[in-house]
Amino acid sequence: MKEINIPYIILSAAMTIDGKIATKKGDSELSNKADWKEVHKLRTEVDAIMVGKGTILKDNPKLHIKYYNHRGYYRIVLDSHLTIPLDSNVISFRQEIYPTIICTTENVPLNKLKKYEDKGVKIIQAGDGKRVNLIKTLTILKDFGINSILLEGGGNLNWSFIEYNLIDEIRLTIAPWIVGGKEATSLVEGIGFEKISTAPKFELFDVKVRIYYITLRYKRKQ
Ligand SMILES: NC(=O)c1ccc[n+]([C@@H]2O[C@H](COP(=O)([O-])OP(=O)(O)OC[C@H]3O[C@@H](n4cnc5c(N)ncnc54)[C@H](OP(=O)(O)O)[C@@H]3O)[C@@H](O)[C@H]2O)c1
Repeated sequence: MKEINIPYIILSAAMTIDGKIATKKGDSELSNKADWKEVHKLRTEVDAIMVGKGTILKDNPKLHIKYYNHRGYYRIVLDSHLTIPLDSNVISFRQEIYPTIICTTENVPLNKLKKYEDKGVKIIQAGDGKRVNLIKTLTILKDFGINSILLEGGGNLNWSFIEYNLIDEIRLTIAPWIVGGKEATSLVEGIGFEKISTAPKFELFDVKVRIYYITLRYKRKQ
């Protein structure tokens, strides 16, 4: 599925020993300072960071860089009905360094788009389905000059990428907790594959062990 001309995608996440990226209440404070530093380093190496609407609503992240000097990058949010609050940190925090792109559908009325554009947000409309058309979005982003994206979840957006086998690389930190709960968000949500043989396969190329934490890096298996 990677013959299409789309950006290089690196999935980055911290998960518990039992594969959750947040508790059932949405608490996702899994990384320690050393882990954050590595994630921020990775952010300096890409053209954009992408998250789903759920992550904006739960965490209200700034998606900025601490610890390093940097020229900035795009922050991209997938939000099919354009509902994230206009005072979300991705909109109000430092757009001059981290310009924000919201990818939505063609169903959103112009007057709604304008409210976000007036805040300096660039809007991309991809598809007229219930959800943002991911392939269309990625093709538009590539044409726009975005060659690499750090995908920072959450679980539902991760599934859409996995479903179409769009992940080139994974950086995954295993944090020392088990939180349980079927309502807790897993690294990858969605309906899942029925057979292992049809699921995307990855090749482990780096393992870093720190006190309590392990970071694994994988590449797509061709
Ligand atoms: N530990 C970590 O590393 C980490 C990282 C990130 C997030 N998280 C946690 O993950 C949780 C959020 O995960 P989540 O699964 O609820 O939300 P999510 O994956 O961030 O966002 C999913 C939403 O994005 C929108 N979307 C638009 N187009 C989509 C598409 N093509 N495919 C999939 N989604 C699309 C959908 O809402 P519409 O249909 O309304 O557009 C969908 O419900 C939070 O608790 C957060 O703290 C943890």
